[in-house]
Amino acid sequence: MRILRTLREMHAQTRHWKAEREVISLVPTMGALHAGHGSLMAEADRRSQQVVVSIFVNPTQFGPGEDYDAYPRTWEADKAYCEEMGVAAIWAPRVVDLYPDGAATWVEETALSQGLEGEHRPGHMRGVTTVVSKLFNAVLPDVAVFGQKDAQQAAVIRRMTRDLCWPIEIVVAPTHREPDGLAMSSRNQYLSADERQAATAIYAGLTAARAACAAGEHDSAALVAIVRTRIVTSGGRPEYIAVNHPDTLAPLTGTLTGRALISLVAYYGKARLLDNIFVSPG
Ligand code: PAF
Repeated sequence: MRILRTLREMHAQTRHWKAEREVISLVPTMGALHAGHGSLMAEADRRSQQVVVSIFVNPTQFGPGEDYDAYPRTWEADKAYCEEMGVAAIWAPRVVDLYPDGAATWVEETALSQGLEGEHRPGHMRGVTTVVSKLFNAVLPDVAVFGQKDAQQAAVIRRMTRDLCWPIEIVVAPTHREPDGLAMSSRNQYLSADERQAATAIYAGLTAARAACAAGEHDSAALVAIVRTRIVTSGGRPEYIAVNHPDTLAPLTGTLTGRALISLVAYYGKARLLDNIFVSPG
C-alpha cells in the first residue's frame, strides 16, 4: 500500500494508473476509520482496480466552536486498517497542500445544501463541496463512494458532480450499523458507556416511524413525533428531525404521498449524531 502525501505524489500515481487504464475509486474520509468506512472501501473495491482512501480532517467544514481540534486522529490504526482492507493508496495531504496560503476559491452548491446540515451548520456544506472538489481534482477517480448516513452530503455531492461535468460515478453505500442499530460514526468515540447505550434510541425511533408509516400513519408531524419521543425519553437532545423528499430534499409537511427521507441530528452528551431512514406510505 502506498502512502501519498503531496499533490505531486498523488497526481503522479493517478497518471500512472490512467496510463495503465486502471479504474480508480476514491473513498474520501476524515480518518478515525471504522467498519463503516470499511464497507465503503469494500464497495469501492468491487467497482475498481485501484482504491484510494483520502484521510484529511478538513478545517473548512467545521464551524467556530465545533470539534475540529478534538476530532479523533488515529493515523497508525487508520493505516493498518487500510492495509488490511487491501487499499492501493492512502492520500493524506497536509492542510497547506489543499489550502495554500491565500486560498480564496470555494465551490458551493446552492440548492440541496440549503436545509438540514446547511441550515444548522452554516458554511459546513461549502467546506465539504470545496474539499471534495479538491480531492476529485487530485485523484481524478472514476468512482467515488460516500455513505448514506450523510444523506444530504451525498445528494449535494452528486448534484455538484453533475453540475461541474465531472465524469465520476457517485456511489452511495448503505449506512453501516452496530448490531444494536447505532449508525457507525467516528464521533461515537465521544459517547460514554451510558450514552452509547441510550443512543440506540435513534435507530429504534427511526424504525418505529418507518413501521408506523407502513401501517398507515402518513402524517409527517406524527412520524417526527414518534422519533422525537424515543430520543427524548432516552436522554438524547434532538437538534432537528426533518422529513424531506428523497431526491430534491424539499421539506415534506402534511400527508405523505410517496417515499420520504426522515433525517435527524441528536446530541448524546457532547456527541452530535446523524442518522436517517427512508419511509414509504404502506
Ligand atoms: O463524510 C466525511 O467524512 C467528510 O465530510 C468528507 C466527505 C471526507 C469531506 O471532508
